[in-house]
Amino acid sequence: LPKQRLLVVANRLPVSAVRQGKDSWQLEISVGGLVSALLGLKEFDARWIGWAGVNVPDETGQEALTKALAEKKCIPVFLDEDTVHQYYNGYCNNIIWPLFHYLGLPQEDRLSTTRSFQSQFDAYKKANQMFANVVHENYEEGDVVWCHDYHLMFLPRCLKEKNSNIKVGWFLHTPFPSSEIHRMLPSRRDLLESVLAADLVGFHTYDYARHFVSACTRILGLEGTPEGVENQGKLTRVAAFPIGIDSDRFIRALELPQVQDHIKELKERFAGRKVMLGVDRLDMIKGIPQKILAFEEFLEENPEWRDKVVLLQIAVPTRTDVPEYQKLSSQVHEIVGRINGRFGTLTAVPIHHLDRSLDFHALCALYAVTVLWLSKCSSIMASTVLQEHANACIMTGPQEDAQTVIFRWVWEGKANFRLISILTLLVFYPDVALITSLRDGMNLVSYEFVACQALKKGVLILSEFAGAAQSLGAGALLVNPWNIAEVAASISQALNMPADEREKMHQHNFMHVTTHTSQEWAATFVSELNDTIIEAQLRT
Ligand code: UDP
Ligand code: G6P
Repeated sequence: LPKQRLLVVANRLPVSAVRQGKDSWQLEISVGGLVSALLGLKEFDARWIGWAGVNVPDETGQEALTKALAEKKCIPVFLDEDTVHQYYNGYCNNIIWPLFHYLGLPQEDRLSTTRSFQSQFDAYKKANQMFANVVHENYEEGDVVWCHDYHLMFLPRCLKEKNSNIKVGWFLHTPFPSSEIHRMLPSRRDLLESVLAADLVGFHTYDYARHFVSACTRILGLEGTPEGVENQGKLTRVAAFPIGIDSDRFIRALELPQVQDHIKELKERFAGRKVMLGVDRLDMIKGIPQKILAFEEFLEENPEWRDKVVLLQIAVPTRTDVPEYQKLSSQVHEIVGRINGRFGTLTAVPIHHLDRSLDFHALCALYAVTVLWLSKCSSIMASTVLQEHANACIMTGPQEDAQTVIFRWVWEGKANFRLISILTLLVFYPDVALITSLRDGMNLVSYEFVACQALKKGVLILSEFAGAAQSLGAGALLVNPWNIAEVAASISQALNMPADEREKMHQHNFMHVTTHTSQEWAATFVSELNDTIIEAQLRT
């Protein structure tokens, strides 16, 4: 059977473009849960329509980029600078994103916010129409068009207005908030009505789907049924489709024999040292300041742990043109600096905070085994000095621990600070993953950590406000990230947890993560969309 043709439409393409010259482009993999999950769409003949994350005002550049992206089956939507400012930085990431994560609407300068709201909303609609135009140009009869996320809530309507036969699905990767929150949005009606133009609307959890249906009943006065929402005889099907990861991709990466050898070696060498790992985009919703403060409280209350535990926080810069994100970045740096100053010693600091992203192999390694990362680090850093240092680190005899070596290198002027941070990461295994999102649609990092922990069976401390708490809750220590004392107590519980208990929790999660994959998620959504359309045809 030929594979089903699928047009995936999302604001963010799986690759972001960096200009190298007049007509040459470098493509880098984009970061974020949406991209990670959709990389697993192998069962479909899929094309991806979206923004390449860059302003390309000239025709030569646009042509060259379109060609480069075509090789990756990607089709660009070119958004000009003003549209990006008003639509992406403004309406999407300063209004909808914080509101859908229960952080409210922007508070400062209320009047100017209200005034700019209308122009941002206009830009949002205009941008959605631009995405729709590219879909229409590339659409072939029978295609399924799958629209993604809060950036494109207007898209289903734009598509159906021009061609009511297109099969349209829309999936939200964030929480859908309680209708009491959604009703604060000045454009609350427009957004709901536009989404309802889709045939199938999907959410990560049953709660988000329920919130959406009640927003439609309370705000639009429509009828909610167990199947979805009914509007003048037309049913929009609404359901939960919890996303997953391509777990095999992670597990396979850990199977390399040299990795196994290194695991053994490092286990012996660094026995007794515990590592807590955090991997997040540097976003307000991830609760990074709360996490760091909880770690501080843990250190304060447990002096015996001060030189035996380290928090490695990878904080990937994101949406850096939005002022709230800039504020967060300085806030986090300030707290980390203060705590490191307070609890650091000549040879060690308790928090290693990295403002950067890691590539897939680096990330896998960090989730599970630091040495896998060694073999790949040259591609990450493009630095021979790092490779040499990393190798030296492995060669270090048991008489001298790796941190001491790194410290010596710094002392001798052989390494800079960034190198120390990264090298220090190399010598640890994560024993605990600490995810303290204030709200999170799902949180795939928690899934990826579980997939990589078959050997270590590390403990997952997980915010009860992440969608993942509904699937991994029974195998994790669930916390309220706002309750710093509770998170600090969970850190202590995780670090002291007996092996049999860790094993039990890990098994539960591992089973879930390996059976609820991104492939299965996509297949279920698309098949449900096809069924919904057949049922609708039967009804008429
Ligand atoms: N990620 C990445 N590089 C990094 C850090 C994270 O590619 O340096 C990926 C990570 O593997 C995960 C995604 O970014 O798949 C984050 O997804 P999640 O659902 O946890 O949160 P989101 O960023 O979508 O809010
Ligand atoms: C979240 C959103 C995605 C988005 C990602 C990264 O996962 O749900 O739609 O792509 O964050 O954010 P960015 O703004 O860089 O696309």
